Amino acid sequence: MKIIVITGATSGIGNLLAKSFANRGCIVFAGYRNSDLKTDLVKISDNVIPFYIDMSKRDTILSAAKFILDKTDKIDTLINVAGCVFAGPMECLAVDKIREQFEINTFSHLEFTQGLFDKLRGGKVINISSMASFGIFPFIAPYCASKRALDILFNSMQMECAKDIKIVSIKPGVIKTPLWAKSIEKNQGALGENKKYEKEFDFLMKNAAKNEHKGLNVQKVVNFIIKIEGLNNPKPSYTIGLDAKFAEIFSHLPQSWINFVVHKALNARMSKL
Ligand SMILES: NC(=O)c1ccc[n+]([C@@H]2O[C@H](COP(=O)([O-])OP(=O)(O)OC[C@H]3O[C@@H](n4cnc5c(N)ncnc54)[C@H](OP(=O)(O)O)[C@@H]3O)[C@@H](O)[C@H]2O)c1
Repeated sequence: MKIIVITGATSGIGNLLAKSFANRGCIVFAGYRNSDLKTDLVKISDNVIPFYIDMSKRDTILSAAKFILDKTDKIDTLINVAGCVFAGPMECLAVDKIREQFEINTFSHLEFTQGLFDKLRGGKVINISSMASFGIFPFIAPYCASKRALDILFNSMQMECAKDIKIVSIKPGVIKTPLWAKSIEKNQGALGENKKYEKEFDFLMKNAAKNEHKGLNVQKVVNFIIKIEGLNNPKPSYTIGLDAKFAEIFSHLPQSWINFVVHKALNARMSKL
């Protein structure tokens, strides 16, 4: 019986992964931060063991790792899913917000993985990164940088301990999940008193609202992740979706070309508003 650990199991990709692995007979340790959602996890199946973890609070990361280590002798796969999007212009976005983004999307995942490492030997870590990791999107730099840093830190871990563990980064394009509605709520006040970027930010928020209804079907993404989880020798990185594949190729162009095209495309799309 496989043992799977999933953070961010209360919504979107993580929730569907928890249900799918539990239905396949795996034992699933499922992470929640909102206690109201714990009962939903319990209801999935007896195979689901909820654990509390808030990626922005270090003590909960350490206690979550201890909770899991006390209950199992091995972990087949850890899937680091939990994440959110912080947006704003670099000119005025509070640096503390960027720190918080890195805590939630990057450092917490590393610390949690380190905490579980001994029982992960011979197993896998699958990180849900993003096409944002290719770093070509303005106004969501905290999100892009946090995903990029996640990929770099874990890829280094892979090079350092290839014999112990397999590490995979999944980089999807836009997926229909509640992530985007939550990001609109989270980033409402990001401009503060600064009116300079109002038009760009308004565009960004409208675009985020559309994302929840367009993009990849979450079930397809989950099926793909389950397939990767079952491979003996997965690749270190997978890009899912046409938008993500385009972003990957585009990111290899010279930086001056990327900046020129992104600037033009943003202005063209905003003028259509
Ligand atoms: N949707 C997309 O277009 C897309 C594309 C590429 C990559 N991704 C990545 O996929 C992952 C899952 O996102 P999703 O689309 O499934 O979004 P989602 O439905 O919002 O799920 C995010 C999950 O992370 C949890 N979470 C957020 N902040 C947390 C914190 N501080 N501590 C603990 N848990 C926290 C959420 O908990 P609550 O239920 O309490 O909010 C939720 O369970 C994220 O890492 C995201 O960056 C998403």
